Amino acid sequence: AQLNILAQLAGKKYFGTATDNPELTNTSYVAQLGNTLDFHQLTPANSMKWENTEPERGQFTFSGGDAIVAQAEKHNQLVRGHNCVWHNQLATWVTEGNFDNSTLLSIVENHCSTLVKHYKGKIWDVLNEVLNDDGTFRESVFFNTTGTAYMGAAFRAARKADPKAKLYINDFNIEGEGAKSTAMINLVKQLRAEGVPVDGIGVQSHLIVGGVPPTMKANLQAFAALGVEVAITELDVRMNLPVTPALLEQQKKDYKTVIEACKAVPRCVGVTVWDWTDKFSWVPGTFAGQGAACPWDENFVKKPAYLGIIEGWLI
Ligand code: G3I
Repeated sequence: AQLNILAQLAGKKYFGTATDNPELTNTSYVAQLGNTLDFHQLTPANSMKWENTEPERGQFTFSGGDAIVAQAEKHNQLVRGHNCVWHNQLATWVTEGNFDNSTLLSIVENHCSTLVKHYKGKIWDVLNEVLNDDGTFRESVFFNTTGTAYMGAAFRAARKADPKAKLYINDFNIEGEGAKSTAMINLVKQLRAEGVPVDGIGVQSHLIVGGVPPTMKANLQAFAALGVEVAITELDVRMNLPVTPALLEQQKKDYKTVIEACKAVPRCVGVTVWDWTDKFSWVPGTFAGQGAACPWDENFVKKPAYLGIIEGWLI
């Protein structure tokens, strides 16, 4: 029994993982990345972001993203484009350009359209992290200049560029019920009422050991009830170091709980971990003293969390 096999037996489209270009030089890492029993989907953690794809206005560089897509295609794995519009890892020419409303909207449209056209037939995080934790709209150059107009512009441009792409809005801290999840529901309702082509809600799921929201299943169901797909897009469960057997046991339960939640919601189409090994996790670089968030340890040995995922699909 392995992660993707069981996900598909549970009726899901894929189990997948994030990866990043520097990691592709590690041959034993790449061997596991291409293990389709575990992974049928890849997300580039950095190389499709704005600062990397349009570092100067109108000058697109696809080499990093192309390398991830080529890696995925070797094993017939799906690719989640990440992402079209985000306030972070954005090119400075956008933030510092002082563009007016209509110019910035056309910049957003051109960026999304060019990316989605180049990477056809993909799933896309069109919008990433547009909400604050209290449910208000996040301030960014996009929001401050265009209000919410950039949101519809991004989705419409993406749809036009590839009618077959699956288009998502993606965010963190929307795993359980609460102000931010309610705001997501209202936003997606509003956008779809305006005819904006939102196909899915991505629930990042950067969680903390012992902290899976008890309302996760109900919340995913509430998202799905809008008539959209749902996906767990960036799952990891971090802990305070050092690792102990008790923490690993709780982490196993947490992974299981998340998988069970997706399993129980028919429109939850898949789960992606934010890299499979602790060796390449983003967590220690961002949260001092925390880590060990992935299902495999830094030596590529499966942790109890791996079994938690298995059990989640089986139950
Ligand atoms: O590319 C430079 C390199 O030239 C330089 O030498 C090095 C020195 O620090 O930094 C490198 O850039 C780093 C980049 O990852 C590529 O490795 C940045 O410092 C680092 O901040 C950046 O972190 C990424 C983070 O997003 C940035 O916000 C993580 O790898 C990536 O996993 C993470 O992913 C995000 C999702 O996109 C959105 N949701 C949250 C998730 C976790 O933060």
